[in-house]
Amino acid sequence: MIDMLVRLYDLPDSSELYREVAAKGVTLRRARAFEKHTVAAFARGFSEKWASEVEVALTRQPVACFVATREKKILGFACYDTTMRGFFGPTGVAEESRGLGLGKALLMKSLEGLRETGHAYAIIGGVGPREFYAKACGAIEIPGSDPGIYGDILP
Ligand SMILES: CC(C)(COP(=O)(O)OP(=O)(O)OC[C@H]1O[C@@H](n2cnc3c(N)ncnc32)[C@H](O)[C@@H]1OP(=O)(O)O)[C@@H](O)C(=O)NCCC(=O)NCCS
Repeated sequence: MIDMLVRLYDLPDSSELYREVAAKGVTLRRARAFEKHTVAAFARGFSEKWASEVEVALTRQPVACFVATREKKILGFACYDTTMRGFFGPTGVAEESRGLGLGKALLMKSLEGLRETGHAYAIIGGVGPREFYAKACGAIEIPGSDPGIYGDILP
């Protein structure tokens, strides 16, 4: 699992992607503090560790976690500045909602959030689907980053 680097000053304009997602009836927004249990339960479906990270993201102001929702149901989530400062992740989209652009839209919202807080680069921690990140935001692999910070993990 390597880390990847993203140039935030070169991010493409994602407004068209956000319009497409909205046209599918999906809302993209920051999660709210009073939804912490709901978002953490969704993330727990992927990993207990991701639920822990969501709980950290939901204590930030502004909340460092975006969600994709439709009809009061969560379809996907993405956190940033949570595992480490400047890191993107974890992220996940429900299996039945994949391929609709939600993963990319959640990624871009989070990267824009990092850019707004003054970061020039973001790090995608412990990837994962490398081609997805390379294609979506031009991420490149960081040499020597495996296992990086993930070398000594408690269960
Ligand atoms: C990775 C993940 C978030 C992608 O979500 P998604 O909503 O299906 O992705 P999108 O629909 O936004 O896909 C955007 C583009 O990336 C491509 N893509 C999606 N998943 C990909 C993958 N695993 N590998 C390569 N390309 C991928 C899509 O084909 C699409 O291409 P297009 O722009 O040419 O149409 C989702 O598959 C997921 O939740 N996986 C399990 C959890 C996970 O691995 N999280 C990442 C941990 S680092």
